Amino acid sequence: MKPVVINSPDQTKERKRLDKDNHFIDYVENNKFKDLGKDKKYYLYTYGCQENESDSEKIRGLMESMSFSKCDNLDETDVILMNTCAIRKNAEDKVFGELGRLKQLKRKKPELIVGLGGCMAQEESVVNKILTKYQNVDFVFGTHNLHNLPNLIARVMENKERVVDVLSYEGSVVENVPLVRESNIKAWIPIMYGCDEFCTYCIVPYTRGKERSRLPENIIKEATDLANQGYKEITLLGQNVNAYGKDFTDRTYDFADLLNDLAKINIPRIRFTTNNPKDFDDRQIEAVKNAKNIMNAIHLPVQSGSNKVLKKMNRKYSKESYIELVDKLYKAIPDVSITTDIIVAFPYEDDNDFNETLDLVKRCKFEGAFTFIFSKREGTPAAKYVDENITEEIAYQRLYKLNEVVNEGYKNGMMRFLNKTVKVLIEGRSKNQKNVLMGYTENNKLVNVLGDEKYIGQIVDVKITDAKTWSLDGEIVNE
Ligand code: 5AD
Ligand code: SF4
Repeated sequence: MKPVVINSPDQTKERKRLDKDNHFIDYVENNKFKDLGKDKKYYLYTYGCQENESDSEKIRGLMESMSFSKCDNLDETDVILMNTCAIRKNAEDKVFGELGRLKQLKRKKPELIVGLGGCMAQEESVVNKILTKYQNVDFVFGTHNLHNLPNLIARVMENKERVVDVLSYEGSVVENVPLVRESNIKAWIPIMYGCDEFCTYCIVPYTRGKERSRLPENIIKEATDLANQGYKEITLLGQNVNAYGKDFTDRTYDFADLLNDLAKINIPRIRFTTNNPKDFDDRQIEAVKNAKNIMNAIHLPVQSGSNKVLKKMNRKYSKESYIELVDKLYKAIPDVSITTDIIVAFPYEDDNDFNETLDLVKRCKFEGAFTFIFSKREGTPAAKYVDENITEEIAYQRLYKLNEVVNEGYKNGMMRFLNKTVKVLIEGRSKNQKNVLMGYTENNKLVNVLGDEKYIGQIVDVKITDAKTWSLDGEIVNE
């Protein structure tokens, strides 16, 4: 079937930031589609970051507004949706692997509809590959027009068309998209979309458009509503939350202002991610320090401990300024847990650069890190960097070495809570042991405790009895 290409992705357009204004759109439900999914089911795959998890809650909201019901069994579903991630090649390989497996299902059930959205849909190479090699994909939708999903599904179902609708532009801020949240204890709140940093390795600025902040009044209302519904924790989301508000032209209001305003809401826990060291300023540190309900856990991606590599990455800060920020955080918030992201084997990283990264990890006393081998992303500047000195073997050796040091940090971060009593938000039952409950401390440490289901959704005092590398064990003390 010849595909109908309404809009197709163009990464070169994404690089441009011509339209400086923010465009705010209010989603309006189209009653025409209200019963489109009656007696039909959808199955949703979510890959990647919290931003995608948050988008998936909108996908659920949109599907359920058309009367589709969610299902967990691929054999029973009428529609399959994939919310994909493009950050590294292995994230994409996973999706293509799954699409390959779904070919069989589609052969058994030709009326099955498969849609692919998320960051991969924003890449030309991916869309071309899907159009030629994955005939089992019926429609492709991008990150910018997620709210248009009902129209697209209707087109595919009613006209039996194959459709591609992916916009490549600065993007807008769409409010009031219906959503179905995964949890009734913790909630994501996106505070901004997109990214203007253009770190040379990163595909995000090409898949999610320019940095654009939601209006504070909408964020504060959402947080207040969640608090009134009994939610215990909110996590503010953005690719660089520290730059929140810098794009406003009609007001001066930044991330510190937002933190100060949200701290006044009666919600026990506020988290935020992810941070960019270059924009984390003193007022933001003060806000975290002063608010009891802003948690002492900060994810502060450093990427490398070498100034030479940071420069090649276009990170816009130095090792020294990063360390200064970390020192300030420890001084202002002595109990803080700092975690980070690190990329090894970036082109031109030599042994000295890598050793500087190891030293920095020790110096900053990180209590955890996501560590990655550099992955070439087509269309980004670093994809053109050539460094034949870094073989796959060297890359894996560096990752292994780094993880050894990082794991020490994890362990130290856990050990400091041994025999202490900490507050744990109990989220549910542990996956592995039936009579064990799991939750997180204020510092974001995973804790397992014996206890009754009645504690789920509660913040309880827990005495820590054992500290492992990845988790703590404890006993509830406030019976
Ligand atoms: N290769 C490896 N890691 C990457 N990240 C982003 N882009 C790449 C890439 N091309 C990592 C960064 C970022 C995290 C979300 O993913 O460390 O902070
Ligand atoms: Fe990617 Fe850098 Fe933006 Fe983070 S700040 S999303 S690493 S470009």
